Amino acid sequence: MNLSNSTRNGSSISIIWIIVGGLAIIFGGLLIGTVVPFILPIEGSAEAQQVDGLFRFMLVIGGAIFLLVNGVLVYSIIRFRARTNDYADGPPIQGNTTLELVWTLIPAIIVTVLTIYAYSVWVNIQSEKPNEQEVDVTGQRFAWTFTYTVTENELADLGVTRDQLPEEVNAVFASEGGAVNFNSLQLHTWVGQPVHVSLHTEDVNHAFWIPGMRIKQDLLAGRVTDIRFTPIEPGVYRIVCAELCGSGHGNMAGEVDERGNLTGAWLIVHPDEETFVQEFYKPEAQNVLFPPEDPVERGRQILASGAYPCSGCHVLTELSWAGVQAPNLDSIGTRAETRVAGLSASDYLHQSIREPYAYIVPGYQNIMPVFSNDPNEPNTQYMPDSDLEAIVAYLLTLQGG
Ligand code: CUA
Repeated sequence: MNLSNSTRNGSSISIIWIIVGGLAIIFGGLLIGTVVPFILPIEGSAEAQQVDGLFRFMLVIGGAIFLLVNGVLVYSIIRFRARTNDYADGPPIQGNTTLELVWTLIPAIIVTVLTIYAYSVWVNIQSEKPNEQEVDVTGQRFAWTFTYTVTENELADLGVTRDQLPEEVNAVFASEGGAVNFNSLQLHTWVGQPVHVSLHTEDVNHAFWIPGMRIKQDLLAGRVTDIRFTPIEPGVYRIVCAELCGSGHGNMAGEVDERGNLTGAWLIVHPDEETFVQEFYKPEAQNVLFPPEDPVERGRQILASGAYPCSGCHVLTELSWAGVQAPNLDSIGTRAETRVAGLSASDYLHQSIREPYAYIVPGYQNIMPVFSNDPNEPNTQYMPDSDLEAIVAYLLTLQGG
């Protein structure tokens, strides 16, 4: 009688403890899922809200399991520790079917729910949205380039007609099926505009990551991959390469230099379409539709546009380039005069773009791609003679000690 009374008392006490412990674990999990996301960057896109929702959900479950496992562990260490002079073995345990069913079924349910939830978030992100802005992204060692298109319709929006265009631009328009492209070192868009980026690489694998948008997508050699996002907060967001791609991998990320200039790749989200057009699209389109006649101006514009991946490896302060794998181009016009005996500054600059392997500046490696005037030459990048002449004309003006 005595014995059964005390057992009944003991079990009602332990039920209370199990309820208290269970509630502590659930609230602890909710607390972890609420507090930890404060260390995440700003949620800059609609997709970021969905990704963070999924992340919080996993944190609540993971946090509760963490507290349960460690709570039981700490309790067992204290409650069942060996007493002084107690050398007895523990009781022999054969197994517990109920317990095994519970710890198999609960994780199976959790994993199934997470799979369905995560898959639906992924499908939401990758589904085509109405009226998407299309941007091509090129990754190459060690810079990103963003390519925009001016179509015949957009020409009309800019107040320009085909017959106003210079002859060579009009020829491009005709050969490209009524469109002409321009490049930018930054990705520009505006709040509320769904963006669809198509990614391809000129060399090895890279990964396109915008932490503030919570999107990350690999670039795979020989394939075009894509990812979508819709910005909801205006601002400037870092773009990062998340795949180790060589010695200049770190240059494929947006940085701020000591003068406060943005270097590398950034996403600029304008507050509205009007600002995007006035501050970015119109001036850039104007540049490509009416290229400056002056070769120096033209060369500067070509390099600043990111049409060639020079910014990832060279320093050029005037254009906010901050690469370190290749020689500094500030005042290259002066240094080119004496760099290789027998070559004039202009000849040396021509050679170092068409045949960069011919002379390697001491202290650097032979990593620069060959820029050929033949678009079909294998293992080279195409640079027409007109671009080369303009670039050399600009580089020659970079004078100094
Ligand atoms: Cu590109 Cu790392």
